[in-house]
Amino acid sequence: MGWNGWYRFRCRVDERLVRATADAMVASGMRARGYRYVNLDDCWMAPQRDASGALVADPVRFPNGIRALADYVHRRGLRLGIYAGAGTTTCARFPGSAGHFAQDAAAFAAWGVDFVKLDWCGAGSPRTAPSVYRAMREAIRRARRPMVLSICQYGLSTPWVWGPRVGHLWRISHDVGWYGNPGRPWRILLRIADRNAGLLSYARPGAWNDPDILQVGNQGLTPTEQRSIFSLWSMLSAPLLAGNDVRTMSSSTRETLTNPEVIAINQDARRIRGIRRSTSGGRETWVRALSDGATAVLVLNRLARTTTVRADVRRLRIGQSKRYLVRNLWTHRTLTTPGPIRIILPPHGVAMFRIRPG
Ligand code: GLA
Repeated sequence: MGWNGWYRFRCRVDERLVRATADAMVASGMRARGYRYVNLDDCWMAPQRDASGALVADPVRFPNGIRALADYVHRRGLRLGIYAGAGTTTCARFPGSAGHFAQDAAAFAAWGVDFVKLDWCGAGSPRTAPSVYRAMREAIRRARRPMVLSICQYGLSTPWVWGPRVGHLWRISHDVGWYGNPGRPWRILLRIADRNAGLLSYARPGAWNDPDILQVGNQGLTPTEQRSIFSLWSMLSAPLLAGNDVRTMSSSTRETLTNPEVIAINQDARRIRGIRRSTSGGRETWVRALSDGATAVLVLNRLARTTTVRADVRRLRIGQSKRYLVRNLWTHRTLTTPGPIRIILPPHGVAMFRIRPG
């Protein structure tokens, strides 16, 4: 869990923003809820390596350098992530790490970096991706600082197959904004969720499918849609990387990002099996067994109109009982039912429950 401001800030990133973001993650309660990584993305570096071939931070935007930034973030109980390109340039045409993996990993370690996102732009044939990422993993191992390796290869070379042995998370798709309709990411995000649902068997503790940065608090989704995507990402145990301006977020955005009951589903230790139980007319039920014996249930309305779902908890096959306790993770209310429940879902909305016999 953490933050990556790429979609919100693109290249307009500097050390003041990162420091203020770290402060806001503490003040808003995000850290207390588990958000840890404050991640730089592209454009943090100067346009050229120095005379020794080393990457250097942009001297205007990061005058105190990355080491000082890492110290600042660490003092707040958070971790610093950094970004590098596997090719000769990054996607935004800053110096790439090709030919410099050992040097760059050593620098990141010396600076106190905790997380490395290795992007793929211009890195050549996707078929070489497993060996390229393995080389970076090896460079990190030799640098002798534990750093999360984030594989950002857009799902091109089935990274879910080799990713678990090489890194800690791997993107399963192109960028949310890639598909040419950045103003309307709802459909794209659902498509990514659908893909993720089919890849769950590859994930395990410490190795995750990455359906990309959250859009909660950003333009393009209604607050209802933001909540739905946050709920889906939680059902899928996706990395929760907030992608908004956390310094100025509204209370509704903060409540979505810090909902402890939904985050608890995201962080549940039990491995996820087949998760989508039923679909009918744009309405879907997703079901996930939890480590304490309870069951998480998400009902999604893909339709652009309000819909009423009449469901029966007994049909979820979660254990025979006269009564079920149904905890609504967004209204924070619990109801008791012998089985039937009625759910009214707004357009593109979800309801999310934790259900146990009792
Ligand atoms: C790619 C990645 C994004 C972001 C940009 C930066 O598009 O997929 O997440 O890192 O590069 O240029």
